Parts: sequence; structure tokens; C-alpha cells
Amino acid sequence: MRTTKIILIIFFLAILGIQFVPVKLDNPPIKGQIQAPANIQKILKRSCYDCHSNTTNYPWYSRVAPVSWLIESDVQNGRKHLNFSEWSLYEPRTKRKKLDEIKEEIRDDKMPMEIYTYLHPSAQLSVDDKIQINRWVDQQLGR
Ligand code: HEC
Repeated sequence: MRTTKIILIIFFLAILGIQFVPVKLDNPPIKGQIQAPANIQKILKRSCYDCHSNTTNYPWYSRVAPVSWLIESDVQNGRKHLNFSEWSLYEPRTKRKKLDEIKEEIRDDKMPMEIYTYLHPSAQLSVDDKIQINRWVDQQLGR
């Protein structure tokens, strides 16, 4: 009994302790917002912006470690790969590559990440959302 109590106390102290590890849950300035038709903006904002923009919406649980570490990693990593708030700063060649990748990730149901849509069911892309994005990408690529 006594050991269980001690283990529990250590566990709670550890959970408390990790709350003091600094995490970066930031929103840097918007440097080059993507220009896209309203219907596309709406889909991207709803399903991608939390990890691919500088306007991330951080819910309360995103501040609680160890969840905060996961969110920090996904947001920082997501922005590094694709940032719609810095889109217009990309070279034309990079834009084309990213557009191709957007199409691919959506086709393979890799984005938005499953762990995210589990908590944000409304971010799931409908068949119609996918068609609209595909059409827009093709237009951008002149296909
Ligand atoms: C929960 C966070 C999250 C959401 C939401 C999200 N992504 Fe991602 N995305 C990532 C992360 C993290 C990466 C980095 C690569 C990896 O880990 O797979 C990534 C990578 C990508 C890449 C690859 C870019 C490259 O250069 O390799 C594309 C394209 C992409 N995401 C598109 C989207 C689109 C489109 C949406 C919305 C429909 C979306 N993502 C939603 C987190 C997210």
C-alpha cells in the first residue's frame, strides 16, 4: 500500500514538474498571406491553418504538458514544411512543389493529420473539399 502511495505521489510531482518545461506555442507575424479564392481560403483555414500558418488556434489543453510538447512539435514542424502565412515569399518553383505536395497529401488522406481530426472532426476534408482543392491546385499549375 505504502509503495503505491509513494509511486502516485512521485507521478503527480512529475506531471507537475514537466509543466515548467518551456514550450513555444507562438504565432509569429504574417509575412506573406496566400492569395486564394474565398472557398479555398475557407477550407485551408478550417483544416490546415492550425499547423500551416502563423495564426494557430491553441486550445486550453495545448498548454498542458506533455500534450503541449506534441502540439509544439506538430505546429513548428508543420510551418517549416508549409506556411500559408509566408506563402507569397516562396520562390515560384517552391510554390509549384508545395502545390503538388498538397494534392498528394490530400489524395493519400495524410493531411490533415489523423491525431488532429480526431480532436477536430470538423477539420476532416469532405469529398467536395478535396475536389475544390484539386481544381484550384491544377489551375495554379496551369493544368
Ligand atoms: C495537426 C497539424 C497539421 C494539420 C492540421 C495539417 N498538417 Fe500538413 N503537416 C504537418 C506536419 C507536422 C508536417 C511535416 C511532415 C510530417 O510530419 O508529415 C506536414 C506536412 C505537410 C505537407 C508536406 C510539405 C513538404 O514540403 O513536405 C503538406 C503538403 C501538408 N502538410 C499539407 C497540409 C494540408 C493541405 C492540410 C489541410 C488540409 C494540412 N497539411 C493540415 C502538420 C499538419
